[in-house]
Amino acid sequence: MVSTGIAPSPAKVEKGTQKLRVGVIGYGYWGPNVVRNLHGIEDVHPAVVCDMNPKSLDRVAKAHPSVRLTRDHREVVASPEIDAVAVVTPVWTHYELAKAALENGKHVFVEKPFTSNSKQAEELIELAERKNLKIMVDHTFVFTGAVRKIRELIDTGTLGELYYYDSLRVNLGLFQHDVNVIWDLAPHDLSIMDYLVDERPEGVVATGERHLNGHEDVAFITVYFPGRFIAHINVNWLSPVKVRTTLIGGEKKMLVWNDLEADEKIKVYDKGVQMGNGEGLHDVLVSYRTGDMWAPQVDRTEALRAELTYFRDCIVNDQTPRNDGHAGLRVVKMLEAADRSVKNRGAIVPL
Ligand SMILES: NC(=O)c1ccc[n+]([C@@H]2O[C@H](COP(=O)([O-])OP(=O)(O)OC[C@H]3O[C@@H](n4cnc5c(N)ncnc54)[C@H](O)[C@@H]3O)[C@@H](O)[C@H]2O)c1
Repeated sequence: MVSTGIAPSPAKVEKGTQKLRVGVIGYGYWGPNVVRNLHGIEDVHPAVVCDMNPKSLDRVAKAHPSVRLTRDHREVVASPEIDAVAVVTPVWTHYELAKAALENGKHVFVEKPFTSNSKQAEELIELAERKNLKIMVDHTFVFTGAVRKIRELIDTGTLGELYYYDSLRVNLGLFQHDVNVIWDLAPHDLSIMDYLVDERPEGVVATGERHLNGHEDVAFITVYFPGRFIAHINVNWLSPVKVRTTLIGGEKKMLVWNDLEADEKIKVYDKGVQMGNGEGLHDVLVSYRTGDMWAPQVDRTEALRAELTYFRDCIVNDQTPRNDGHAGLRVVKMLEAADRSVKNRGAIVPL
């Protein structure tokens, strides 16, 4: 339990008057990206970085000599000089740290996945709403140029009715000690789908297996929606090669998004299939359309920078982030459902 007992200091950041002062807890693998991007954003000041590991703090001191350092998260959450806290620590710590920050009147930016279970997420959402504070969950991919372009292709009707989302997100490691491959890698696809698809899913089927450290390292997840749209996600820590490829099929166009491509990340294919009736009672005419392929321009702004700028804007303008606690909760519910389904060898788990 990390409650500080110190009186809360409500974070009020008014447009044009003050910088958003952010404290970052956790400077392991992902934390340095958060701190580096905070440094580059106008009207944002990364004031303090906290990590319980002194070696991590040495790295901060080298990269950002002006930033205050501490090993004690309570100094961050209780500081009257901080308006918002970024929680960039392992998943099992998110709830306690975010709760302490909210209790002390700070807005929070929490890494994906939001919490270890949906009860914790619901509690944090209620606490933030009661205190009129913002929660943003780091669903980084939603802020990539590629995902924003795909959303545009959906919104303009270019793809037509969506048929499926099929993603391959595999690599060798990095093995996590506290979560399985579903909680490590699937939040990316689940949050992308949450942003791209307006319909809410109704059930999850998942299968997976543990080979090495007691956590599932290979998993296959299917997400059902009320309409005809269906999603499939393959996550794997035991792949000899890294693959980040997503197929999205629509009635009018289909696309392939290869996130490892430097240029032409998205290729849109004017391909499709139409069924018509032939002359005989049982004749079905199948016609295949194979038209052009084109690769639309994709904005190259670093996603985390765009996201943290949006975090500042949501606080200053009192707007609800699209990746708020509710979005984080929807992803956590799908992860929980996937875990339950894996335990029951692929039984469908309703959402
Ligand atoms: N958005 C993304 O694309 C993305 C990418 C990687 C990781 N992540 C997420 O970021 C989070 C951190 O992942 P990571 O890979 O950087 O983990 P990590 O283990 O490399 O680093 C975590 C750091 O937090 C520190 N820490 C833990 N508890 C602490 C506490 N109570 N007080 C102070 N410091 C504490 C540890 O000492 C460590 O340095 C996870 O939730 C992960 O899912 C997100």
